[in-house]
Amino acid sequence: MNLKLRVWRQKNASTPGRFADYPAANISPDMSFLEMLDVVNEELIKTGKEPIVCDSDCREGICGTCSLVINGIPHGHERGTTVCQLHMRHFKDGETITIEPWRAQAFPVIKDLVVDRSAFDRIIQAGGFISVSTGQAIDGNAVLIPKHAAELAMDAAACIGCGACVAACKNASAMLFVAAKVSHLRLLPQGRREKERRVWNMVKQMGAEGFGNCTNTSACEAVCPKSVSVDFIARMNRDFAVCLVKSQFKHE
Ligand code: SF4
Ligand code: FES
Repeated sequence: MNLKLRVWRQKNASTPGRFADYPAANISPDMSFLEMLDVVNEELIKTGKEPIVCDSDCREGICGTCSLVINGIPHGHERGTTVCQLHMRHFKDGETITIEPWRAQAFPVIKDLVVDRSAFDRIIQAGGFISVSTGQAIDGNAVLIPKHAAELAMDAAACIGCGACVAACKNASAMLFVAAKVSHLRLLPQGRREKERRVWNMVKQMGAEGFGNCTNTSACEAVCPKSVSVDFIARMNRDFAVCLVKSQFKHE
């Protein structure tokens, strides 16, 4: 395949960025999107040009590091797929592909296609701990968990923290991410004791980081590579509302 790439190049957050065009020649349809970028970067390096900077780690769809907006869609047009699992056979020979970073105020550009997602880490930190008895490992089935709760918790825990939900949202809301993180602990007995403190602090931190609020467009669910459902947002809002009315609860 021979393709034309329109790639966002930006030196840092304080310098304006621009699109630059690059050819991607002799690309195998079996390559992943990131392998295609590797080929383009090798050519750029060979000719003394600066390679395109982008993020990746596991390249197996589990770490959430790869983060590109491809033709206007975070992670590209294949549903339930991360950039690293997206293959070139899903594009047409001769196509022009536009590649941009996540765009959100809370995710400042570090360079080119790499953004700073440490706001997500601070939201996780705000969630705090869960109370478990430490000591010897307990028997596998000592804590009984209903099957439905276990499966829902696993669906929420599938979130890989990539930030595509933020990039897709017109409000740059992180509600789907936060709801997934709140829910996977809140649904299990081990994480239930701190559920109010957790939801309160994480939602508060989300606002402090500059993420917007949810207006129920479900754009986040549509691009989520792990198909995390917006139902988790409704669950989180319910928990948050309970916190608000419990005047005796000390939040800070
Ligand atoms: S909810 Fe989905 S899109 Fe958002 S961070 Fe988690 S995996 Fe990524
Ligand atoms: S590189 Fe880990 S999910 Fe894509």
